[in-house]
Amino acid sequence: MLAYRHQFHAGNFADVMKHALLARLLVALGRKPAPYCYVDTHAGIGRYDLRHEWSQKNAEHEAGVALVWQRADAPPDLAPWLDIVRDMNPEGRLEHYPGSPEIAQRLRRAGDRMVLSELNPADQATLKANMAGLRGVSVVAQDGYKTLSSHLPPSERRGLVLLDSSFDRAGEFTRLVQAVRLAHERFATGVMAVWYPLMDPSAMRRFERSLHECGVRRILLLELSVHPEDWRASLRGSGLIVVNPPYGFDREARGLLAWLAEALAPQAGSSRVQWLVPE
Ligand SMILES: C[S@@+](CC[C@H](N)C(=O)[O-])C[C@H]1O[C@@H](n2cnc3c(N)ncnc32)[C@H](O)[C@@H]1O
Repeated sequence: MLAYRHQFHAGNFADVMKHALLARLLVALGRKPAPYCYVDTHAGIGRYDLRHEWSQKNAEHEAGVALVWQRADAPPDLAPWLDIVRDMNPEGRLEHYPGSPEIAQRLRRAGDRMVLSELNPADQATLKANMAGLRGVSVVAQDGYKTLSSHLPPSERRGLVLLDSSFDRAGEFTRLVQAVRLAHERFATGVMAVWYPLMDPSAMRRFERSLHECGVRRILLLELSVHPEDWRASLRGSGLIVVNPPYGFDREARGLLAWLAEALAPQAGSSRVQWLVPE
């Protein structure tokens, strides 16, 4: 329990997919003047130094952000995330990578709030230090699933919940579906993005079926597969479920993920964007 440290994985292909889509969702929320609240249930430390020995161990970022951050032909929809990565690495060497809290912090406007929960005490302390002095940011030391009950609905009645579990306990897919149902009961109009790893096909079918049956509508499924033949050995791909995506997000995501699949895995990569449950 809590052995997972995101420093080992920061900037890998799964982060690229999740963060590129997260940035699009936040940009869409920022189009209306009313303030919003961003809730990150599994926040990590906020931003990552890729020179750290844990990041260097398997250098997962080399098969992720390193393959795309300097591509001149990246689609414009990637810009909100790419601009942040480039801004953090002004010398042209890839040394820093933004986690989800850093992305949200950079995209929010003056009146938008952030609630970040992180359970690992060491990571929580680093997150607090990384977010120190910022107005409208609360770092909460509690289980992210409890944060859904304690912080939803937000007083703004507009917002985005990111649920980015480390998948280090059995039964996580079941917990995710329960969380989608709970978050929807408390905050039916909110946007919710839920990350998951692509596991064996039967587990994926069960997950999709239980989402179908959970009573929540407007669920968009987005997946990026990079090692389709190799699901036993490593993370073969990753997915994001988005509840209540903004208008046009499905079309945007289709182009963006098709480009990322080609850039991250030119031979084997593929992507999928599908309404799992429509209106
Ligand atoms: C995949 S990482 C998060 C990465 C981050 N969202 C990002 O995109 O930069 C998952 C984090 O959740 C933390 N964690 C694990 N179980 C948790 C729980 N029940 N509640 C809150 N945080 C938890 C882990 O310590 C880890 O830092």
